[in-house]
Amino acid sequence: MPNETHSEPTIVQADVKYMTDTGEKRLIYIPSEAGQDNSKWAGRYEDRKVEIRNARIEPSVFDLDTAGFAIASQSTAVTDFYDDAQIADVYEPEVAAFLQQLTGAARVHIFDHTRRADSESMRSEKVVREPAGVIHNDYTQASAEKRVRDLFPADEAEDLLSRRFAIVNLWRSSNNAPIETAPLALCDARSVSDGDLITVERHSKDRIGEVQQVIFNPDHRWFYYPRLEADEALLIKTYDSATDGRARFSVHTAFEDPTVSADAPPRESIETRAFVFY
Ligand code: OGA
Ligand code: FE
Repeated sequence: MPNETHSEPTIVQADVKYMTDTGEKRLIYIPSEAGQDNSKWAGRYEDRKVEIRNARIEPSVFDLDTAGFAIASQSTAVTDFYDDAQIADVYEPEVAAFLQQLTGAARVHIFDHTRRADSESMRSEKVVREPAGVIHNDYTQASAEKRVRDLFPADEAEDLLSRRFAIVNLWRSSNNAPIETAPLALCDARSVSDGDLITVERHSKDRIGEVQQVIFNPDHRWFYYPRLEADEALLIKTYDSATDGRARFSVHTAFEDPTVSADAPPRESIETRAFVFY
């Protein structure tokens, strides 16, 4: 338990929301629109109490190719993450350069930013989405490839798809304060089996895609980074086309951290999705 000099938990127990495998073949998830808490999840779910370890003090190293996630220092010149012009002019070049250096990719292409807040009033005021409280990974192989085909001209897409590519999310605080409530729990990709992952259609207003939701498996090993600082970023590799044994997907969910006080400021975050082409 926390004390006054060092308030970092080593391990917490918390409920996370798994999918119940009902054998249903076609499941459809309708994501919320910004400012409206109207996500419609696809199937039956069950809360499971799991141990979530403090990744900061674990002896093992977490990186994108082993665990499927990583933490990095990433300072930014952005002063207002709610300003679309700053996101386009300041943040995107920063993130692209950062991811290129980190991954050694030939090319990085940013294609999405999602802002979220753990407060209903803030969500309607700032027109942002809620924390994602169901365990998931953002892409399947099919939806990752479709995303490339949707966003590039046909010839270029086929060329890009002929070599290795990945999708990496960069997730961070968006209000210049540490993340306290609703942090992200990340499941070590080495503890996830293919059979734990259920493909679910994702029908948003603009397009149809696919995500993966997850069936409980006692082998899953969960981690988090308590109090993610304003100059820290979480990297989540939500897809990798490589099939050589490295992590291809990264399962994650927001959760309620029992060590965080009830009057802690609500989390505000932004996640940026990028193609990483090799
Ligand atoms: C993501 C994600 C959920 C959240 O970045 O892919 O699932 O609660 N975020 O921030
Ligand atoms: Fe996600």
